[in-house]
Amino acid sequence: MDILLGLQWGDEGKGKVVDFLAPKYDLIARFQGGPNAGHTLHFENTKHVLHQIPSGIFREKLLNLIGNGVVLDPVIFNKEILALVNMGLDLQKRLVVSKKAQLILPTHRLLDAASEKAKGDKKIGSTLKGISPAYQDKIGRTGLRVGDILQTDFADKYAKIKEKHLAWLSFYQFPLQGTLSNGMNYDLEAMETDFFAAIESLKKLTLADSEYLVNSYLQQGKKVLAEGAQGSLLDIDFGSYPFVTSSNTTVAGACTGLGVAPKKVGEVFGILKAYSTRVGGGPFPTELADETGEKLRKIGNEFGATTGRARRCGWLDLPALKYAIMLNGVTQLFMMKADVLNSFEEIKICTHYKLPDGTLTEQMPFEITDVVIEPVYKTFKGWNCDLQNLKSFADLPPALAAYIAFVEESLDVPVTLFSYSPNRADTLMK
Ligand code: GDP
Ligand code: IMO
Ligand code: MG
Repeated sequence: MDILLGLQWGDEGKGKVVDFLAPKYDLIARFQGGPNAGHTLHFENTKHVLHQIPSGIFREKLLNLIGNGVVLDPVIFNKEILALVNMGLDLQKRLVVSKKAQLILPTHRLLDAASEKAKGDKKIGSTLKGISPAYQDKIGRTGLRVGDILQTDFADKYAKIKEKHLAWLSFYQFPLQGTLSNGMNYDLEAMETDFFAAIESLKKLTLADSEYLVNSYLQQGKKVLAEGAQGSLLDIDFGSYPFVTSSNTTVAGACTGLGVAPKKVGEVFGILKAYSTRVGGGPFPTELADETGEKLRKIGNEFGATTGRARRCGWLDLPALKYAIMLNGVTQLFMMKADVLNSFEEIKICTHYKLPDGTLTEQMPFEITDVVIEPVYKTFKGWNCDLQNLKSFADLPPALAAYIAFVEESLDVPVTLFSYSPNRADTLMK
């Protein structure tokens, strides 16, 4: 099993690359996260954004799996499915959902909003999709799983957990209908009606003990690609806690999120933008809160695929990438979006952090959320030209080749895939 995951704070371009690589695989599997993800694909002049459905779904002759490590919102899922069915895709044949995936309930979404509101200016910047409350119930051993919807006592189980959630919402003094901070109007009763309708649709799909499915694929020598969501620096253990998501976005999450033993892991593809972005709160040492950051955001179209929020932008951060590579055992780097830098006279890369006491480090300090870290930069000359119709790495302008070579040398991992537009076709592979 190969694993593709983001090395930064998410939105590295995972969707594009999974769709590009999918024909080489028999199974594409999501292993964590949920509708907080937004994975964008561009082909045949059309843009598609997937939230819970794996990014291999548009390719024929392969299976897509939503693994046990995922938290699934049936309502959002049903909308995604209807859009794909309207395009003529046969999802009965292409998609399987793990019976052990956890369900996101309407009250999880309200609890997410209530918890964020209570944090005031210390809010995480959650996507408000109910991710954290759903994972809390999973770890608290009170969650509902996809397989539960086939049991006769599902409604009872739902009522029980809802009762607990209502008590918490009352503690937060959070109304059961109103408007969320993102402008979304909500009404718990209407949300529940949609939820139970979506559950009926979910029952019509293939629900499986997916750990057996994945392992039987591997046993037969079939190829599996695990598709990460979010990024390594949002990992619940290793990200800038508490400004993280609620799952292990790193490589171990693929093993627990699919039921695959570590010894079955082959290549680990670490995907990075040629610069950095982050959406939501939390430390971002190389952030550019100036016109250069604004230029990156504008040219890179850095607005969230799930929430539409402006993404914070900054230079590439080697200490952060080294950390992510160490945690994941990355074997190949995929570099995305260098085309966004085409018109920059100068481009910087952060090589070290300077701590408040003046010491230089290449490590992510524990105190990262509490202290101001000064990035130490190396400056590169821009390549100042468009990137079009490239046939191979040999066609890259010398200044860009030098930029990539420096990244490879510093990180000690080769860049084997290079993407230079949102389109499927504009991708080079070594
Ligand atoms: P994901 O969450 O990792 O799948 O990434 P997103 O889809 O949230 O964000 C990546 C954005 O960059 C999307 O709008 C993609 O269409 C776009 N994109 C991907 N690769 C490239 C690239 O090489 N160049 C440019 N300019 N855009 C890209
Ligand atoms: P993809 O898969 C970028 C961020 C949120 C917030 C924090 C916690 O598209 O790369 P959550 O809703 O998970 O409780 O939010 O994590 N976040 C993402 N940022 N890309 C994502 O997914 C993200 N999923 C969550 O903005 O800061
Ligand atoms: Mg995204």
